[in-house]
Amino acid sequence: MNQPKHPKRYTVTAALPYANGPVHIGHLAGCYIPADTYVRFLRLLGKEVLFICGSDEHGVPITLKARDLGISPQDVVDKYHKMMGDSFRELGISFDVYSRTSAPVHHETAQEFFLNLYHKGEFVEQITEQYYDEQEQTFLADRYIVGTCPNCGNENAYGDQCEKCGKSLSPSDLIQPRSRLSGLPPVKKQTKHWFLALDRYQQTWINEWMLTHKEDWKPNVYGQCKSWLDQGLQPRAITRDLDWGVKVPLEGEDGKVLYVWFDAPIGYISATREWAEKNGEDWEKWWKNEQSSLIHFIGKDNIVFHCIIFPAILKAHGDFILPDHVPANEFLNLEGDKISTSRNWAVWLHEYLQDFPGRRDELRYVLTSIAPETKDSDFSWKDYQARVNNELADILGNFVNRVMVLTHKYFGGKVPTSAFTPSAEVEDVASQIFEKLPEQMDAWQFRQSLFDALNLARAGNKFLADAQPWKLNLETDRDQIADIIAYSIDIVSRLSIALSVFLPDTSAKIRRMLNLPEQFTWNDLLIAHLSEGHALNAPEILFRKIEDNEVDLQIAKLQASKEAIKTTIQHKPVKDSITYDEFMKMDIRVGTILEAERVPKADKLLKLLVDTGIDKRTVVSGIAEHFAPEAIIGQQVSILLNLEPRKIRGIESQGMILMAEDAEGKLRFVQPNEPVNPGSEIR
Ligand code: MF3
Ligand code: ZN
Repeated sequence: MNQPKHPKRYTVTAALPYANGPVHIGHLAGCYIPADTYVRFLRLLGKEVLFICGSDEHGVPITLKARDLGISPQDVVDKYHKMMGDSFRELGISFDVYSRTSAPVHHETAQEFFLNLYHKGEFVEQITEQYYDEQEQTFLADRYIVGTCPNCGNENAYGDQCEKCGKSLSPSDLIQPRSRLSGLPPVKKQTKHWFLALDRYQQTWINEWMLTHKEDWKPNVYGQCKSWLDQGLQPRAITRDLDWGVKVPLEGEDGKVLYVWFDAPIGYISATREWAEKNGEDWEKWWKNEQSSLIHFIGKDNIVFHCIIFPAILKAHGDFILPDHVPANEFLNLEGDKISTSRNWAVWLHEYLQDFPGRRDELRYVLTSIAPETKDSDFSWKDYQARVNNELADILGNFVNRVMVLTHKYFGGKVPTSAFTPSAEVEDVASQIFEKLPEQMDAWQFRQSLFDALNLARAGNKFLADAQPWKLNLETDRDQIADIIAYSIDIVSRLSIALSVFLPDTSAKIRRMLNLPEQFTWNDLLIAHLSEGHALNAPEILFRKIEDNEVDLQIAKLQASKEAIKTTIQHKPVKDSITYDEFMKMDIRVGTILEAERVPKADKLLKLLVDTGIDKRTVVSGIAEHFAPEAIIGQQVSILLNLEPRKIRGIESQGMILMAEDAEGKLRFVQPNEPVNPGSEIR
């Protein structure tokens, strides 16, 4: 598959975000801002571009969320589809279309794909054993099964992954697996599914095709693909037993849907069809024409799907182009911790837009500056504040403002001359931008190109500081001042072009101040000069500084979500059942604490002397962090008497005090609600 070197048009996709939560800065830095930046760059070059996105509305996490909330999956996706679409729009992400996979056009397109491949015999039909919940009479996706992680002992590991230690699992790895639906151990049951023969494709073309991208794909992307290929691809099931998703379009196959990773990428095509129908355009040229270049922007967890599985589907269908580039980014962390929707550890886009109105470019700037292009990176509010204040406000904003103010002060806001003397130093920086930026964009080095573009403002500041027009005398040095100011205006005008792909609002504001048309092309960078007498508009402030209290508020908000996580009641599943006899084996009684003292060199332990009604015995209890010894003397407690004596720190402990532990790990005694005689039985 040889893609054209100078494609005629670009089909650019940004990963369809799952409609089970709002958009956060991790999504933006990893995928949507780079995609939007690149698309703006292509448009600046005058290329034909279609920029595609939409909501990914299928998959098990959505059904689980619906179940937890007691609403339908459709309600869940309706809510988040609207929320995500709105916040992308409000940020100014310039999608040509933002569709969704619950749309009829998508179901149709995905089913067409399935049938096309099915009739060509591309699928292998196989009966496999899957976990099944007999009480709920349903097959269980891996996520629906929980159990103890064999790696770290976490009792609530999922059948596909342990969220505590991060290990990938399969349900059969779990110790004591149970269904999240009924709580019962799942049984294995046979079911039929369709598999994509990736192993076969690997031999016939994937290996070879991948090699053609060894040099031109990002090392992290190529590396991940290579390691998949080195392990050998396996046939992959592309259907599931589930009632939420695109139905398998075959007679008598009720209860089966397409696997979400089969249908979701086809969503790019459905979205194109939706756009085309609405605009009276042809969708096929974007997907079936060798003059089109397909580019997928994604996060690193999506690599295999976009670099191997989706291409395999496209190729099996036969008429489609394959991706030319898959510029996947790594992950963005937040204040040193992994961003997590379920733990509410995130900066949500819709909240940012509300808390920082009119400051979209500040977010774009910071997230591009720290984009996880080659390795994971970290967002912190202090860093956000520093970058906005020291770079955007002090360098860019300051330069533009000085030039505007000086022009108004000395020349009534008119460009004083069109013949000025360029500074070699500044021109050096400017020509770097013109020459290097396109290459950097094509090499996905957006951080560097933004930094270089900002360098033009740095150079401008230095030029002004060196020239010091304010020290000159307007009467005697008019020509010299005019020269300096006119050249500075020229730099500002070029900044409006160079920065436009990264900071669209800022660019537009500068254009307005300069009274220049909003339409321009990349080549205008070379011929951006303004004519003598051209009247500028009034200066506007580009960037207001971020105050300490503004970021402190955000940090406090994050802190609060950390606290909230702690207090969330953990839904601990019920332990395996025991018989009545087993229960009756426990001898639990009420006792009274007679003495209590700390155990030397053990922060957590108290040594208690307890009156059990039949004897006075010593119990070592791990409650020292919760109670002062002197405060608990005389308290009644529940004590398990017939627990085998154990030596703890050299002290023989004869029994166990029962405690109630809340979600924050706080301990309280389990006591009779009125005092009773020591030795009273608890049954
Ligand atoms: N929903 C997936 C995620 O957020 C991405 C899907 S991309 C697509 O990780 F290609 F499948 F659409
Ligand atoms: Zn684990």
